[in-house]
Formats: sequence, structure tokens, C-alpha cells
Amino acid sequence: MNFERNILITGGAGFIGSHLVRLMVERYPTYRIINLDLLTYAGNLANLKDVEGCANYLFVRGDVCDRGLVEEIFERYGVDGVIHLAAESHVDRSIREPFAFARTNIMGTLTLLDVARRGWEGRMEGKRFHHISTDEVFGALEMSGGMFTEQTKYDPHSPYSASKASSDHFVRAYHDTYGLPTVITNCSNNYGPYQFPEKLIPLFINNIRQRKPLPLYGRGENVRDWLYVEDHARAIDLVFHHGRVGESYNVGGNNEWRNIDLVRVLIKTVDRLLGNPEGYSDSLVRFVTDRPGHDARYAIDSTKLQKELGWEPSLQFEEGIKKTVRWYLDNQEWMDSVTSGDYLRYYEEMYSGR
Ligand code: NAD
Ligand code: DAU
Repeated sequence: MNFERNILITGGAGFIGSHLVRLMVERYPTYRIINLDLLTYAGNLANLKDVEGCANYLFVRGDVCDRGLVEEIFERYGVDGVIHLAAESHVDRSIREPFAFARTNIMGTLTLLDVARRGWEGRMEGKRFHHISTDEVFGALEMSGGMFTEQTKYDPHSPYSASKASSDHFVRAYHDTYGLPTVITNCSNNYGPYQFPEKLIPLFINNIRQRKPLPLYGRGENVRDWLYVEDHARAIDLVFHHGRVGESYNVGGNNEWRNIDLVRVLIKTVDRLLGNPEGYSDSLVRFVTDRPGHDARYAIDSTKLQKELGWEPSLQFEEGIKKTVRWYLDNQEWMDSVTSGDYLRYYEEMYSGR
């Protein structure tokens, strides 16, 4: 079968990647969507069960640092677009294992950029390399105000954000030096189904259900700007197709919450859905030692994306949180398999012959 386009999505078995793969496979039946994912602890093919049989979807298990494999994929499928999400993504892990973050986030991005540059040399027309980045590259805002714009100077504080900042710099360098047609999006905190339960929202929903403590870092006063994951996937689709080459676009929900207030909403929502009395799980909150280098506040100004490409978030936070809590409570099997590590053993066996 001939496809109109052949798009390589990396990290498509992760949280955001799986939502993006689903959107692209369903919205563009004439595109072949190739999902390259190493299936680390964070990657899970169960996130994509509903698309695995689609004729325009292909899964390849592999490492974005494996240059030979990436070249083979480019050649075999005639890749003409890349949307790069594969990364080590959890700040706390980056504090314990910074080298793993440098390897995947910097060297992996550089490998993809270089294969794209060589593969597309002399015929860059119609090609597109979209790098998925984060608002964390901008550092921390004062509690008193201000927002990150595309002009904000990079000021990363964690090994995770330093590795993402570095990868963003390489993407710009490949555009400026080699004319690679790149775009970057910097998004705020995502929430929704299929997020690995090391991140605040799924971790706390699961802990409330199991009546385990809820470890809030510091005084719980840090502020994050939350966006429903499907709204991020729609923004990526728009920027990939219509964003201006060489540009970056901020993506955010204009939806700031102090962690402590967000946790109160989570407790209330879970208790209500489980039929517990009001206040039943309040006592689970524990204030614990703060994350080293914990950024005080993030807030994204996405005016450019809204004005240029007409994007706006579709879900109100209250609705999104209810939907998310309900999903985790209804998908206990997914949560149990992820927390028990069963799915990792399953995929190790399945792919052991590769
Ligand atoms: P995730 O940790 O849920 O998923 C990462 C995916 O990448 C997994 O499927 C994993 O198996 C895969 N992967 C890791 N190393 C790989 C390698 N070497 N080769 C191939 N695949 C590999 O991450 P996420 O939260 O979905 O984030 C996706 C991207 O979006 C990341 O680049 C992250 O920096 C960025 N981002 C995330 C958020 C957020 O709130 N989660 C916000 C802004 C930007
Ligand atoms: O801003 C975008 C970033 O959002 C992405 O680039 C990252 O990949 C993603 O992991 C996320 O980073 P955060 O560090 O903001 O997300 P996390 O869910 O780990 O934490 C959210 C807030 O909650 C943060 O202020 C730390 C706090 N926290 C987190 C955990 C896991 C707690 O207080 N206790 C916890 O147990």
C-alpha cells in the first residue's frame, strides 16, 4: 500500500505519545504512522491496544540512539516527517540517574536530527522535524507573576530540564546550520489517561484508592500549569502541519494550580466517585522533604499558538480531572499491571528474539 506520508513518531508507547499516535492514525488514514519506542519502564503497548490492528500503523521496538536502526527505518519507509517525543521524562529520576537522561534526551535527539539531515539532504521541501519539548527549559517563575513566552531565556535547573534544553539547542542548530525544517513545541504539565503512576496525578489517585500516604514535596505550594493530554496532541498535530519552520510554540492551558490545592481536588473527586464521605482521605496528605532544585512556578503564555494557528484548550479543568480520575478508577487492571511490572516481563519475552 502506498501512503501519502510516512511519519516517524518516537516514544509513541508513552503517555503523550500514545494519545498522539491514536489521533494521527485515526485522523490521517492516508499516512503511515511508524511508532519507534524502546518500551522502557514508561512505554506500554497496552496504551495503544485500540490502534494496533490499523492498516496505517506500524510499531518498531528500538532505541532512538541506535543510528543504524533509525537509518534503516528512514530508508525502508521513506520517512518524510518526524515527531520526536521519546525521552526520559521524570524529574525525580533525573536527579538519581542524570546520565540516562543525557543519553536518551540529548544523544537520542542528535541521532534523529543527523539521520534526518542526511536522509533529506538536497530535498528538504515538504519535510518536517517536530521536537516535543517542555516548559521546564525556561526554569522557574516568581510566585508573584509572569509567564513563559517563546522569548523567555532558557534557565533549566534539573538534569531532566537541562537535557531537554540541550536537545532544543541542537534542534535550532540543525535548522540554522543545515537548513533542517524544524519546529519545537514547549508544553506545560499534561494530565489524563495512561500516565505512568510516578507522576503526581496518577500516583495520588492510585494512593488515595489504596489508602496510602500522599507525599507532597515541601509545603505543597509549588505551582504547575495543567493541560489535558488530548489538547496537547491536537496542538502537536496543528504545529506539525502548519507551524512555521524554524519557530517554537508554547502550549499551555492557562490553568495554574498550587500542588496542595490540586491534591484537595483529587481527594474530593476520588472520594466522591468511590462513595466515601467528604473529607475521608484528607488525612493521607504528608508533607515530605522537598525535591532538590524544585522549580517554584510554571505558567505558559500560548498566545502565539492561539493567534497563528487557532488552537485553544477544549476541556475545562474540572471536567478534565473528573474524566481522568474516572478513567484511572475504571482501569484498575492497567494500573495494577503497570505498578506490578508484569507488562515489562511480558514485553521482554515477546521481543527477546529481536
Ligand atoms: P513518558 O515517560 O510517558 O514516555 C516516554 C516514552 O519514550 C516511553 O514510551 C519510553 O518507552 C520511550 N523511550 C524512552 N527512552 C527511549 C529510547 N531511548 N528510545 C526509544 N524510546 C524511548 O513521557 P511523556 O510524559 O509522554 O513525555 C513525552 C515527551 O513530552 C517527552 O519528550 C517530554 O519531555 C515531553 N513533555 C512531557 C510533558 C508531561 O507533562 N508529561 C509536558 C511537556 C513535554
Ligand atoms: O512542565 C512539564 C513537565 O511536567 C514535563 O516536562 C515532565 O516530563 C513532567 O514529568 C512534568 O514535570 P513535573 O516535575 O512538574 O511533574 P510531576 O508530576 O513529577 O510533579 C508535579 C508537581 O508535584 C511538582 O511540583 C512536584 C510535585 N510532586 C510530585 C510527585 C511525584 C509532589 O509534591 N509529590 C510527588 O510525589
